[in-house]
Amino acid sequence: MKKILFVTSEAVPFIKTGGLADVTGSLARYIDRQNYDVRVILPKYACMDEMWKNKLRFHSHFYVSLGWRNQYVGILETVEAGVHYYFIDNEYYFAGPQPYNQLHEDIEKFAYFSKAALAAIGMIDFVPDVIHCHDWQTALVPVFLKAFSEDYPLLHHTKTVMTIHNLRFQGRYTMDVVKNLTGLSDDYFTPDKLESYGEANFLKGGIAFADIVTTVSPTYALEIMTREGGESLDGLLYARRNSLYGIINGLDSAEYDPNHDIYLTQNFGISNMREGKAANKLALQRELHLPEDEDTIMLAMVSRLTDQKGLDLIAYVMDEMLSHARLQFVVLGTGQEQYANMLRYFADKYPDKLSANICYSEQLAHRIYASADALLMPSLFEPCGLSQLMSYCYGTLPIVRETGGLKDTVQPYNEYEHTGTGFSFANYNAHEMLNTIYYAMHIYYDDRAQWDEMAQRDMRMDFSWKKSAREYEKLYERLLEN
Ligand code: GLC
Repeated sequence: MKKILFVTSEAVPFIKTGGLADVTGSLARYIDRQNYDVRVILPKYACMDEMWKNKLRFHSHFYVSLGWRNQYVGILETVEAGVHYYFIDNEYYFAGPQPYNQLHEDIEKFAYFSKAALAAIGMIDFVPDVIHCHDWQTALVPVFLKAFSEDYPLLHHTKTVMTIHNLRFQGRYTMDVVKNLTGLSDDYFTPDKLESYGEANFLKGGIAFADIVTTVSPTYALEIMTREGGESLDGLLYARRNSLYGIINGLDSAEYDPNHDIYLTQNFGISNMREGKAANKLALQRELHLPEDEDTIMLAMVSRLTDQKGLDLIAYVMDEMLSHARLQFVVLGTGQEQYANMLRYFADKYPDKLSANICYSEQLAHRIYASADALLMPSLFEPCGLSQLMSYCYGTLPIVRETGGLKDTVQPYNEYEHTGTGFSFANYNAHEMLNTIYYAMHIYYDDRAQWDEMAQRDMRMDFSWKKSAREYEKLYERLLEN
């Protein structure tokens, strides 16, 4: 039995701010249990739901050195859906109303977490063959493992994987502060290691020191080796190209099954897709105070409200779109205030056409996926994207920009061959997006049979973890062979 330890700053069902949590939480469950014992270690945040906090049992405690400091580490544990989870407890670091706060706090918090997670391994009677790290918050793990190897005698044969879910976030901070905090010696802060543009860069360290680097789609893996997509780390990523893999994310398909989804007004399957979606649409229109009309196309967006997600394109053409076209647009998400305000403004101006829900709601998200006809994802960049995969499950056609994982998972409709799974455009240009939306509307209103056929095709696709989990297993095998 091979032992794998995920180190992550979030995982469903315990704590989630984005797709990272969906992926770490569900992948851990889909790795083959006959051959692997996958466990997960994450922080115990004060902001976690009481229901989950109450399930955690105390395991042990100790102190860990962080630079010149000596900090308390509590280990809590629980088993959920057959997976063993460990939680690092420290009320000073993991307080606050959300997992992430100001950068200077997060830098120290996650340097601490990475150090504590490694040290905890000595206490839990689980010596991993592979430590699998996710994003910048855990990127110092491979660095510490190398730099302080004498502190981890159990881990001399342990390999590391660094998965990049979003290269935009790197954990960059003033070099002196990070030196002082981590106790890493000066030779770790050179341009081939942690140094980047005069600062210390956590993710850079992870990419430099991990045995294997992965990211969440093949196209994003290529894009991040280029100047445009490399977020200033393209040089190092290119240098590591022989150890860089793009593996598309999977979905926990049981959670997005319109046949059994408890949040829907009416459950449906492939055979009664059209009627099922119409019933849900009418109910959602009522809920959101939009005119009740099953024949008007409903576009949706379920997304963090950040510039990554293409909201600038939407802002640019929103007036044009809402003043002319026969459509309804439903948005759900939280994020940057400027985008929230933009959406509130237009919802005020076009109350019959736009419903802006500036909040986080899993239930509403499911009802939107089930009710909408199309899902808009005009991302500036997109490492993988999960919403388009969720929308497929409900027969909702994605309209996306051809970037990263969107390019890998959405095949554009071809009206001559009757193939495709959605609609797409190439350039980050608002009118290119708008024309693609208009083209999709034309198919919806003028060739509904084709539209419905495509929706049913989408519902039949399989983006469960079955395939992608096998690819991770292959990587683990490859690592452990040498
Ligand atoms: C990040 C990326 C998203 C990806 C997710 C999980 O949120 O922005 O594209 O799907 O991580 O890997």
